Amino acid sequence: MKASDLQTVAIELADRSYHIAIRGSLFDNPLSYAQLPKAGAALIVTNTTVGPLYAERLQKALAPQYSQVHTVVLPDGEEFKTWESLNLIFDALLSHGCDRKTTLFALGGGVVGDMTGFAAASYMRGVPFVQVPTSLLAQVDSSVGGKTAINHPLGKNMIGAFYQPLKVVCDLDTLSTLPQGELSAGLAEVIKYGPIADLDFLAWIEAHLDAILAREPAALAHIVKRSCEIKAWVVSQDEREAGLRAILNFGHTFGHAIEAGLGYGVWLHGEAVGCGMVMAAQLSARLGMVDAFFVHRLTTLIAKAGLPVKAPVLPGADNAGRYLELMRVDKKSEAGEIKFVLIDKPGSACVRSAPDTLVRQVIDSCCA
Ligand code: NAD
Ligand code: GLY
Repeated sequence: MKASDLQTVAIELADRSYHIAIRGSLFDNPLSYAQLPKAGAALIVTNTTVGPLYAERLQKALAPQYSQVHTVVLPDGEEFKTWESLNLIFDALLSHGCDRKTTLFALGGGVVGDMTGFAAASYMRGVPFVQVPTSLLAQVDSSVGGKTAINHPLGKNMIGAFYQPLKVVCDLDTLSTLPQGELSAGLAEVIKYGPIADLDFLAWIEAHLDAILAREPAALAHIVKRSCEIKAWVVSQDEREAGLRAILNFGHTFGHAIEAGLGYGVWLHGEAVGCGMVMAAQLSARLGMVDAFFVHRLTTLIAKAGLPVKAPVLPGADNAGRYLELMRVDKKSEAGEIKFVLIDKPGSACVRSAPDTLVRQVIDSCCA
């Protein structure tokens, strides 16, 4: 696969189907948006980091399609994935007199994408939106599949909606300005697809990790495309997470507890997911589903990708108890019982509960 070839991945969801376009030189090309429904106005939602880099170029690319293109700039950071930031989007929509056809463009990472999607789902009970993801994490995961949300101090992504974009425009060139730590954070969600769905992909990532970390265009093009294909396959079967889609949350139950427990923004989401995958793999091993070799293999890759593999001790007297308390707020929990995404055999995931004693052992050993 050449990095210069346009790749497309289809999300098949009946009347909510759409395409992900993947290549360089896409986000500032008017042709990327020419097929979108006609509307008088567009609103670009971005943040204080990505806006100065890319908003003007997107504005110019949208000008042939919309007579008015407005921009709203949110504060940058997971700690700003809040009602207050969401309200800034509604303020902009209302103050510009935006109507039901106004199209929102999420220009940024997963935080901007999740908030823009939620704003689009609720403004006038639903307006169109397009994802223009600029972080690796957003290109391989968060911009695809229609999960939108904001955080609550008591739990991550607890308030939101399923709402699909009209299109996803993954411009690989935008990854050139991403800080290295954010590239690693995105890699956590890329690595995730291997143990849950595709061992060949896991082996490919292991073999090409140096090229990925060096941002070689062909390597980036491959991981974005393969990740989107796997996510599209899952989402097309289970849009609203009645079952299968939960496997995409491998590492997230522990990871969300790390994020909420330390305070949003202290660890990057991808860092928490990376460490959370190590914890979930260890729990899978303690339940006899995978062997120590597989846990070691995954842990080694996650560490080489530049992600933490030792879990943080959370504030409070009872560290494991605090993890358990936070994990009970997870969206997969039923009647207070925590459901973990575990590896039942390498390349395949399942959702199941585990005895608190085993979970405590995993937390104690990962925090040591
Ligand atoms: P992020 O949105 O905070 O972006 C990471 C950082 O990189 C930010 O500082 C951002 O401003 C900066 N950035 C983004 N693109 C850049 C670029 N091209 N150049 C320079 N800087 C750039 O975080 P993220 O890792 O992109 O996304 C994490 C969020 O995504 C979390 O809130 C998580 O809950 C959410 N998420 C959602 C889904 C979903 O299905 N909706 C899936 C996974 C994660
Ligand atoms: N990132 C998890 C999901 O989209 O379901």
